[in-house]
Amino acid sequence: MRNIDHQSITAEVIARFQECTEPRLKYLLSELVQSLHDYARKVALTEQELMAAIGFLTATGQKCDDKRQEFILLSDVLGLSMLAVALNNKFPPPATEATVFGPFYVQGAPVYPLGANIVQGAPGEPLYVTATVTDLAGEPIANALVNTWQADSDGLYDVQRPGQPLQARGALRTDGQGRLYFKSIVPVPYPVPTDGPVGDILRASGRHPWRPAHIHFMIEAPGFRTLVTHIFRDGDPYLDSDVVFGVRSSLVAAMPYHPADEPPPFGPAAEQAFRTLDISFRLTSQ
Ligand code: BEZ
Ligand code: FE
Repeated sequence: MRNIDHQSITAEVIARFQECTEPRLKYLLSELVQSLHDYARKVALTEQELMAAIGFLTATGQKCDDKRQEFILLSDVLGLSMLAVALNNKFPPPATEATVFGPFYVQGAPVYPLGANIVQGAPGEPLYVTATVTDLAGEPIANALVNTWQADSDGLYDVQRPGQPLQARGALRTDGQGRLYFKSIVPVPYPVPTDGPVGDILRASGRHPWRPAHIHFMIEAPGFRTLVTHIFRDGDPYLDSDVVFGVRSSLVAAMPYHPADEPPPFGPAAEQAFRTLDISFRLTSQ
């Protein structure tokens, strides 16, 4: 076809996917072209704006390495990551809600026994975490594999400190009653990395880069859907403006203060004042 104009071009591009033998890929590509073309027509995209967008995406790719995934961060701040979570995890209560995975999970984190101190020297106020993992009927799930990771009191993950050992993260297994308990630190709010193109977008659009204080959890158990979620700290100033749109009311929990002379929920007497967090995770069957 020749003499394609600003309207007819869309159908012509989509027609070129006709020979695609993978139906889902064909559908995804066709709808992508339709949406992109509709967008360009709607905003009357200029050639300079298209080149600026290509430059931005090029810089985003150039910012990526084995520790930094600027494209995931872009998807996060545009709400696309959380939209995908919401579309794919529509489980009614009492199932624990899912939220974004984020870029700071590390495969092969240290495995700890129940009751362990997973802090490993990271700065922060002591936090005793107790939890149960059950099915939707409240029956305990024994031997579930729980990965947890979080930022320290400087708002940094261990992987953001070059050369540092793994801290404030680990894997534990629930006991026969589905119980989980470990010692960590109180999470604080932190900004997502802003030294790349995504930071430029946030600044240019007048958006702040903060995530409310949270602890990440990934829970795996045979016969159940893997749950990727956070627990957010109640009272955090960013709960209603999380830069990646990940907050769910059901995931917000109090972390009450206890003086040093109070007995902690497990283990020997505390050496300093501490906080506690008690949570229940309810997993959906596969
Ligand atoms: C995180 O919670 O670790 C995170 C999530 C999305 C973007 C950046 C960080
Ligand atoms: Fe995080």
